[in-house]
Order: sequence, then C-alpha cells, then structure tokens
Amino acid sequence: MATTDERRRLRVRPDRLLARLRELGSVGAIPGGGCSRLALSDDDRAGRDLVVTWMRDLGLDVTVDAVGNVFAVRTGREGGPPVMCGSHIDTVATGGIYDGNFGVLSGLEVMEVLAEAGVVTRRPLAVAFFTDEEGARFAPDMLGSLVYVGGMALEAAHDIVGIDGGRLGTELDRIGYLGSVPCPGLPPAAYVELHIEQGPVLEAAGGGIGAVTGVQGISWQEVTVVGQPNHAGTTPLSYRHDAGYVAAATTVFARELARELGGDQVATVGRLSLHPDLVNVVPGRAVFTVDLRNTDEAVLQQAEARLADELDRLARAEGVTVERRTLARFEPVEFDPHVVDLVERTAASLGNRVRRLPSGAGHDAQMLARVCPAGMIFVPSAGGISHNPAEHTDPEDLAAGADVLLQVLLALADGDDPPGADRSRDGAGPAAEERR
Ligand code: GLV
Ligand code: MN
Ligand code: MN
Repeated sequence: MATTDERRRLRVRPDRLLARLRELGSVGAIPGGGCSRLALSDDDRAGRDLVVTWMRDLGLDVTVDAVGNVFAVRTGREGGPPVMCGSHIDTVATGGIYDGNFGVLSGLEVMEVLAEAGVVTRRPLAVAFFTDEEGARFAPDMLGSLVYVGGMALEAAHDIVGIDGGRLGTELDRIGYLGSVPCPGLPPAAYVELHIEQGPVLEAAGGGIGAVTGVQGISWQEVTVVGQPNHAGTTPLSYRHDAGYVAAATTVFARELARELGGDQVATVGRLSLHPDLVNVVPGRAVFTVDLRNTDEAVLQQAEARLADELDRLARAEGVTVERRTLARFEPVEFDPHVVDLVERTAASLGNRVRRLPSGAGHDAQMLARVCPAGMIFVPSAGGISHNPAEHTDPEDLAAGADVLLQVLLALADGDDPPGADRSRDGAGPAAEERR
C-alpha cells in the first residue's frame, strides 16, 4: 500500500496511453489519420469491444446499461458510489482519434498505474464511456449520459431515429450493447472528464491545462422548407418558391446574427439537403440544421427568437412553408466550484500553466453535473482543430492532462468528503432533487 507521498508521485505511462489511442483510432480509420465511428455503427461496436477487452484485462468489473453506457469499476476499501471518470468513444464521421477517446483511455491508464502501484483507494473508482455523445447520427448529443441522469426516458431514447433511418434501440440490440443495468443509473460520488479542448484558447495562451468552468448552452434545430420544384430556365424570379434560396439566405443570416450578437455566440448550418438536387430544377424542398451556442442563456434565447422571425419573414417573401424541429436544447452548465478548484490546484501543483475556461463543445460532464459534483480537465488542441481527422494534441500535453486526472481522482477517492457533498445546502439542480 503506497504512502500519501508515493501516491502523489505516481505518473501515467504516456507510451501505453498513446499506444491505446492509436489502436482505438485504427478502428474505423479514415484518410488523414482520423476515424469514423458513428454511434452504434459496426465500427462503434468494434471500438466498444476493444475497450471492453482492455477493461476486463485490467480486472475491472464491467457492466452495460439499457442505453449502452459502459462502466468499469475498481473496488475501493469502502463501498458506496464510485468516483467516476470517462467520456465517449463514438465519433463524428470525420473525427480525430482524441475527441472522447482520450478521456476514456486516460481513465484506463490511471487504473493500470494504480494496479501496478498496489493502490486501493477509499472509494471505488470507475471509468465510463457513454453512448452517442456526438449526436451526429442520433440527436440529441450527450444522449447516453442524458438518459443515465434521468433527463430523458429510456423508451423515448430507444425510439430515436437516426439520420440513416436506424432506430436507436434496435441498433443497440444489433451491436450487442443493449445492457441490463437499469436507467437512470445511480449517481457517482463525483465525475471528472479529461478531454481535448477542441478550440484554440489554450494553445493561444501558450499551452498548459484548462480548468473547465462550465459548458455553453446548445440549441439544435432541423428546418424543413417546402416550396415548388420548377424549371430553372423558364421560371422567372417572381414565380419562384425556391426552398434552396431560403436555406442559403438562412445560412448567411445565421452567420450575420452571430457576428451581431457578439461575445460567445456561434451559429452553424452543418447539414443541408436539397430536393430534387438537380442542376436545372429550382429546389422544391430543403432540409437543414442550425446549431446555435452561447454561454449566456438569455442571448441564446434571443438568437433562437431572431432566427425564428427571419424564417417566418423568408417564408412569406418566398411563398414557401417552413417547419422547425428541435433536435437538442441544453442550457449552459456551470461545474462544481470545488471540482474546478481541485483541477486548478492539482494542475498547478504538477507544474502546469493553468487557465480557467468554459467549454465550447458539449460533453457528458454537463449531464453528470445534474446529479453529482462534476468538472473537466482540458489539454490544448493543435490549431484549435477538431471534428476533423487532423485533430492533434502533443504527447506531452496528453501525458500532462492524464497526470492531472490521476491526481484529481486520487484526491476525490481518498478525500474525507467528495467536493460538493453539501450540495443540498448550496441548491442542487432539479434532476439532483428528484434523485435524492
Ligand atoms: C458534441 O460533442 C458537440 O459539441 O457537438
Ligand atoms: Mn467529445
Ligand atoms: Mn465531438
């Protein structure tokens, strides 16, 4: 049994972490060094099988819940809920090898270091990977963790239909990950997620570790415009009901809106399909998505209202119908201040430059924050590039982040009280109230 000082000196093995990242990255590999493992696809199944094998090889107790979330638990000296880390291993279709995978595989590396050093923590530890974090195939994003915390009924999640027509519950069963552990799950004692930043802030600040303060609000909509397909050569502009024009005008409007609102506001039209999609036919139908995000809920609501008004105006002006469907809507989240402090202090004590910052991307930690003290650790992303095969983080930064995770997990698992244990007094969120 290692002494406290010996525990503080424990470090991850970067070579082992990198080897696992590369091996998992080779599953569903795509040109340019990235990978494509859309949730519940055959490649996602292969990635899951590999990580579960590693979990079992480390002697962890592996369970799968009814939405396909996977948990690997390491016993502590005492029982009770584990201190959990993790992330996701599904990717967008044009993903890099780090997004999500880095957090999960760093958790495994921590387990291996502790096993080698003969450390048994007071509380159990767990590494999780949550189903469909990306939401790229089945919206909303963070779906597995949302169901885990009781934010969406299991049946509703199973009935979600993906962009390729697949049903989530059927796909879970098909790939062998429709588990038996009930949802919602039992809240962990605390949750810490290590992740690449996926943006340019840390690199621009000279590198180091990010102590993540929260996650910005997310609004995803799908817009369907129905006009009239017609001849591209013979139809004068005044006769047109051009769904393609409305989609393009909305795309430009979204960019202008984000620029005008300023601050953290961003807006993206990421999917667009036109019908009949032919060179000489005025499009009769357009389906596209709008992703709006802001750390300020009031401004995000303003952006949504302005977009809705503009769509109404365009519909009247062009003589088309417009329907909007919400794919995802999550308010901004603030992480537990004790966990943010712990991440900041631990990273600094290991000699890192540390910066507090909010997350621009969505993460499972924002769902876990509803039921337990939660926080995140960021490492820099080269060029701020992510959701792209070129996504890269230097090995030294990966190792530094994983060392912070190791020490934060030890502090949480061995501490007298998990931070935020007094949440009932500080006012926990509604989901936490329901679950008590
Ligand atoms: C999901 O990871 C997102 O931020 O889009
Ligand atoms: Mn991610
Ligand atoms: Mn992602």
